[in-house]
Amino acid sequence: MDHFELRNGELFAEDVPLARIAAEVGTPVYVYSQATLERHARVFREGLRDVSRKHIAFAIKANPNLAVLRVLANAGYGADVVSGGELARALAAGMKPADVVFSGVGKTRAELEQGLAEGIGQFNIELEEEGHVLGALAAARGMRAPAVLRVNPNVDARTHAKISTGKAENKFGVAISDAPAIFARLRQSPGLNLRGVALHIGSQISDLGPLEAAFVRIGELLAELRAAGHGITHVDLGGGLGVPYRLGEELPGPEDYGAMVARVTRDWDVELMFEPGRVIVGNAGVLVTEVIWVKPGLARPYVIVDAAMNDLARPAMYDAYHEFLAVRPNGRRMQANIAGPVCESGDTFAIDREIDAVEAGDLAVFRTAGAYGATMASTYNSRALVPEVMVHGDRFAVVADRIQAATIMSAERVPEWLG
Ligand code: LLP
Repeated sequence: MDHFELRNGELFAEDVPLARIAAEVGTPVYVYSQATLERHARVFREGLRDVSRKHIAFAIKANPNLAVLRVLANAGYGADVVSGGELARALAAGMKPADVVFSGVGKTRAELEQGLAEGIGQFNIELEEEGHVLGALAAARGMRAPAVLRVNPNVDARTHAKISTGKAENKFGVAISDAPAIFARLRQSPGLNLRGVALHIGSQISDLGPLEAAFVRIGELLAELRAAGHGITHVDLGGGLGVPYRLGEELPGPEDYGAMVARVTRDWDVELMFEPGRVIVGNAGVLVTEVIWVKPGLARPYVIVDAAMNDLARPAMYDAYHEFLAVRPNGRRMQANIAGPVCESGDTFAIDREIDAVEAGDLAVFRTAGAYGATMASTYNSRALVPEVMVHGDRFAVVADRIQAATIMSAERVPEWLG
């Protein structure tokens, strides 16, 4: 459930008409609903009510906006970060270092040092060498770095290939068959407090089966590690729960996920850690856009909007579906393609889709744009970097400015030898 709804024939975010935001801030613009963020954070936590010891770390990559992070920090969430930049954001937003988990297959030595200096709560180690390096860096500071070993359980999450991470051929984690030996060697490192394991098999997972299969494998590994004498206190189950992108679509939600987790992990006797991203923010954001033209096409007209693949990359990158709704629907429908102004055919949001009838000058939204939306934006075609707005009741605030093309250009230099 979210707080974007039609009132008197007009689309609102909470108590603010989207048309008002478009008039004051311009388009394209991302709009987030604070009440929806808070609701999703609460519902995810409630779904895990039968897990007694838990830590929830929002996967910042899904939406790193400081205002969004502050809402989640206020809701008691920590952060899952994958770069020094994300770590800095988590702390700037008010998350406690101890509540930060550092994931990522390519952490640099500088980033490991940054994590140690900040005293973060956990490092998720992706390969044996990283563990030895982290241990040495920590020992040099007279510290023991809290860490878990990320394991690749070789399970097919049955999601888009570009966001599947738990198959043997993917770059993430150590093979589950190698995990016991690597774990034993890393336990020797005096600078490491290697206390458990982690996994994350993919994103936009719409079927709990693969998650359950992966967790069962982790349970078996847990027993094996304990039998070898290792104390295990933490297991990080990652993120990955999918969200409905189509109106009326039914997917397993936090309740179903939480029940499955509680059942599978009942006897594990560990603190469970979670890294949800999309399920918290996906349906808490929309991308508001204005129709520039309705252009005749071969089979269908092209609705050309002022948002493009640089603002919302998911359709171009993953063939993702985002619902398109008129802000002031007139009751009529049309069959159309939807595309942006960028000069490549990949800049297409939908082909031959039935949508609200729109014409030039009309406002519309792409729904479910709160996750992996603004954060993946670029300035391709020398377009401005898309701004972000947060709504709270009948108020709204610009929480990220539109960065104009001229500002981007001002950071570029022509070397003097070019005259
Ligand atoms: N933990 C780790 C280690 C991850 O790699 C990810 C996402 C998450 C947690 C959060 O997953 P979520 O709960 O959001 O599914 N840009 C793509 C999604 C990439 C996901 C990458 N990793 C998209 O737009 O679909």
